[in-house]
Amino acid sequence: MRRSLRSLLAVSAVPLAVALALVLVAPAPATADRGVVGGQPVRTVEAPWVVALSSREVFGAARSGQFCGGAVVGPTTVLTAAHCMSRAVLGRSWWEVPDLRVIVGRNDLRGTAGVEYPAARVWVNPAYEGDERAGDLAVITLSRPLPPAYVVPMARQGDPAYRPGTRAAVYGWGDTEGDGSYASTLHMATVRVLDDATCETAYPGSTEGDYQADSMVCAGLPKGGHDACQGDSGGPLVAGGRLVGLVSWGSGCAVAGRPGVYTRISAVAPLVPAHG
Ligand code: ARG
Repeated sequence: MRRSLRSLLAVSAVPLAVALALVLVAPAPATADRGVVGGQPVRTVEAPWVVALSSREVFGAARSGQFCGGAVVGPTTVLTAAHCMSRAVLGRSWWEVPDLRVIVGRNDLRGTAGVEYPAARVWVNPAYEGDERAGDLAVITLSRPLPPAYVVPMARQGDPAYRPGTRAAVYGWGDTEGDGSYASTLHMATVRVLDDATCETAYPGSTEGDYQADSMVCAGLPKGGHDACQGDSGGPLVAGGRLVGLVSWGSGCAVAGRPGVYTRISAVAPLVPAHG
């Protein structure tokens, strides 16, 4: 009995280690200067639409099992990144995660504040491919509705919030240093929406990645220093009170000339069910 339990644990420890390693190193070596890198703590009451995705079974209980972020766009509708639901991150198919939860209203992942909602349904954009990274969107449906105050509206085509130079805020519980220092409390950093030419220059399709303006938006600061990082994926980029992006990828974190790349919400909003 004891032996079989131990071998069971050994088996489950392998995908966990693989998953953690992939989450930590997936996009590129992290060489940041300072969960958001260069940010500041913020309370969930100030940004109630920021949620944590969790599985204690896969990621352990220490930080409530947090592994990605998400954004509430309808009473039962949470958006996250398709890659958060990938085998590369989870070490298994998402439907094999027995305790996938959406955590609402928990500033500190070491605590128990807020509410944990089981995921009633998950939809992963079938057009998303890991190497292309376009259409990095998944939709999680909650089992019970949240009050309307938790909802952030999605930016639509032509939204002025996409104008280059617009101040935007990115939120998450991810790496705050670019070295695997995962935050326990929610952080936010202010960045600016960048023009597509700058994003294309940064990511021309080499090993660094391929920026595609129709489905992505990029944001950062010319000097770097403020950015999303590992563990922030799927979390919101908000400008002008609207959700403009979801943390998707980048080269390192907060590196000058290597802005954060986000799923462009105006491009994927038509895929999101209007109800719920
Ligand atoms: N892919 C990362 C994650 O899974 C997000 C990386 C964002 N990187 C950046 N430099 N903005 O958490």
